[in-house]
Amino acid sequence: MASASLSVSPLRYSNKTYSKNRPIQSSLSGVPSIPVPTTTKSVSLPIRKIPGDYGLPIVGPYKDRLDYFYFQGRDVYFKSRAEKYNSTVFRANMPPGPPIASNPNVIVLLDAKSFPVLFDLSKVEKKDLFTGTYTPSLDLTGGYRVLSYLDPSEPNHAKLKNLIFFLLKSSRDRLIPEFHNIFLGLFEKLESEFSSNGKVAYNDLNDQACFNFLGKAFYGTNPADTKLGEDGPSIIQKWLLLQLSPILSLGLPWAVEDPLLHTSRLPSIIVRSDYQKLYNFFYESSGPILDEGEKLGVKRDESCHNILFSTCFNTFGGMKIFFPNLLKWVGRGGALLQRKLAEEIRSAIKSNGGKVSMSAIENMPLMKSCVYETLRIEPPVPLQYGKAKQDFVLESHDAAFEVKKGEMLFGFQPFATKDSRIFGNGEEFVPDRFVGEGEELLKYVVWSNGPETENPTVGNKQCPGKDFVVLVSRLLLVEFFLRYDSFAIEVGTSALGSAITLTSLKRATF
Ligand code: HEM
Repeated sequence: MASASLSVSPLRYSNKTYSKNRPIQSSLSGVPSIPVPTTTKSVSLPIRKIPGDYGLPIVGPYKDRLDYFYFQGRDVYFKSRAEKYNSTVFRANMPPGPPIASNPNVIVLLDAKSFPVLFDLSKVEKKDLFTGTYTPSLDLTGGYRVLSYLDPSEPNHAKLKNLIFFLLKSSRDRLIPEFHNIFLGLFEKLESEFSSNGKVAYNDLNDQACFNFLGKAFYGTNPADTKLGEDGPSIIQKWLLLQLSPILSLGLPWAVEDPLLHTSRLPSIIVRSDYQKLYNFFYESSGPILDEGEKLGVKRDESCHNILFSTCFNTFGGMKIFFPNLLKWVGRGGALLQRKLAEEIRSAIKSNGGKVSMSAIENMPLMKSCVYETLRIEPPVPLQYGKAKQDFVLESHDAAFEVKKGEMLFGFQPFATKDSRIFGNGEEFVPDRFVGEGEELLKYVVWSNGPETENPTVGNKQCPGKDFVVLVSRLLLVEFFLRYDSFAIEVGTSALGSAITLTSLKRATF
């Protein structure tokens, strides 16, 4: 049962509220709300000048940054401008701005029709924009530009992406058993803390379990059994902060936080010796992966910095945000949803002789839909960038816009994936949205930097961990509901995602 302190719209199931063919008005009030069909076919839209401006140099970006973090907050920052300009495409500045980023000017995309231009590599370049309009110091990645910052046109992109594909492929058979072992340990800790305190904070235990799971699954080594011990998650947190501080808020008073985080990079020396400890763990545990790197033409240390980055930033960072989110949405779904999930999961596992396997998981449509719905409603990486390679015309639902070569496009994904012209009740968590015919909508679920119906390749920038992420998220729900009938939560905020406290946890009774 969800905590009463949460403000949630009543949970609805899709058969009551969703009609695939029904035209739906835009969810951004004030944005043109003419009902349009849910197709994205173009019908010669009028060319419109991209509305909005960047303000005076220095002053405009500074004012926009304060609005974004403190005076309006991120969602209102975008929503209020969309309303003011009556458009889901407009010009604005994105933090941090000068002096960290010399050019903060972007064209903002907020709807499901314009957003996918960010995946079209004939139109946009993805070089050095993983974190947006600035790049963190290379001292934080061993002096290398790691894969996430490379455009597919750069020769190293294909080599390094193949290395990550190899890492994922070689861990395939370990994922299900190691997830079970490590999360069993997490559940035992949750229960023991719960029985002493009557509630338990989920995030720290989640971080520890995720990191140990990744060590076991990817490298066959539990970090807790090495010199690194239990320090991995706290080191990564510090290292992530140094890379992301220009675009994060820690909830401090603005007059303190803004100059501290957003006007200069925090010195990387703060984390140098800790990073070395992490690096040593990876170097010592990943011999066969580094051998493969050499075969692909990548030096051992460059491979090691890359697998460290993919494991700690891409994967651990993603799971750190996404797992609490998943429990948040399923927790808010309340007892009825949780009962249905427990029944579905237990019945599929029973029919599979009591064994968790890929094929058993395929027979859990509601559970699979809940994972996709969470990825849709709260994509773990919400900000995406792409720089125009040429002049072209960009279309939203309502208008066409001329984009010039060299301009930076920025998509705020949570608005694109709540676009009511695509998703009925887009602002609501609809647990069975992607069941049956609803699967057709998966092409608009783009958390992996591409449609859920497409696959990562060496020629694109789609996340190579796409299938891994979907699998481990499913495993979290499967293991959870094999052990518990229901749970309740309280939700707080943290610098990266939601902070979850479990306030009730009922062991399986049926
Ligand atoms: C919840 C977990 C994850 C999330 C939310 C996530 C999300 C993303 C996103 C949004 C991008 C594109 C960023 C951009 O260019 O704008 C990306 C790229 C990438 N991700 Fe993931 N990811 C996750 C897990 C993983 C895993 C498990 C791996 C590998 C072990 C991985 C490795 C990468 C790499 C290497 C790239 C760059 C791809 C390229 O350059 O072609 N990620 N990820």
